[in-house]
Amino acid sequence: MEGSRVKTIHAAIIMDGNGRWATRRGMPRQAGHAAGVEALGRVVEAAPDLGIGTLTVYAFSVDNWQRPKVEVTALMALLRRYIENETRRLAEGGARITVIGRRDRLPGDIAIAIASAERATAGGTRLHLRVAVDYSARDAIVEAAMAAARSGDATREGLSQQLTEGSAHRDVDLLIRTGGEKRLSDFLLWECAYAELYFTDRLWPDFGAEDLAAAVAEFHARERRFGGLGPSAVSAA
Ligand code: FPP
Repeated sequence: MEGSRVKTIHAAIIMDGNGRWATRRGMPRQAGHAAGVEALGRVVEAAPDLGIGTLTVYAFSVDNWQRPKVEVTALMALLRRYIENETRRLAEGGARITVIGRRDRLPGDIAIAIASAERATAGGTRLHLRVAVDYSARDAIVEAAMAAARSGDATREGLSQQLTEGSAHRDVDLLIRTGGEKRLSDFLLWECAYAELYFTDRLWPDFGAEDLAAAVAEFHARERRFGGLGPSAVSAA
C-alpha cells in the first residue's frame, strides 16, 4: 500500500506480443516495441482509477540481450526516450518511477537518466511505476541472499527480511501476461507467490484501458485464500 490508506493493487505485466504485432503488419519487430510504448502510456494513465497503486512492467529481461543487436539497440533507444520524455508527465500526474534490475550493463547515459527520473518523481504517491530492465527474478533472489550474507545475518529471518524489505519486493496481487503464452519467464517469482494470474491472447500493442479494466474486474471476482479457507468455505462450515 503506497501513498494512501486504501489498499491498492500491485499489478505486474509481461508485455508480450510486440514482435508478432509488427510482423503481422509487415513491419520490423522494433515497430512493435514502439507501439508497445504507446500501450504502456494508456495503461499508466488508466491504472490509478482502477485502484492500482503499484504497476511493475517487464521491459527487458537479462535474456533479452541475446536478441539481434538491432532489436536490443532499438529497445534501449525506446527506454532512453521513455525516461527522458515521460518523467515530467509522470511527475505531473503524481506518479513515481523506479527501475528494477541491473544497471551496470546499461548504456551509461540511460543509467544516469534513470537515476535522475527516480529523484524527480520520488514524491509521487498516485502510482508507483516500476520498470524491470535487465531483470531476472532469480538474480534478484540470489542478490538478496548475498546481501543477507554480507549483513552478517544469513539466517532464514535475515534472508526473508532482505526479500521483503521496502517496496522492492512488494507482493504482486495481479499478474497479467499478454500475447497468449502462459509462463512467468523469470519475472517477480518471489513476489508472485500468491498472485492471481491473468493471461490474454491480446498482443501488447493492442492492449488498452478496457483490457486492464477487464483484468482488474476478474481479479476482484476471484476468491483469494492464501492457502487458508476463503470466506465462502468458512461461512458454509
Ligand atoms: C516481448 O514481446 C516484449 C519485450 C521483450 C519488450 C517489451 C518492451 C516494451 C513494451 C517497450 C519498451 C518499454 C519501455 C518502458 C521503453 P516480444 O518481442 O517477445 O513479442 P513476440 O513474442 O511477439 O515476439
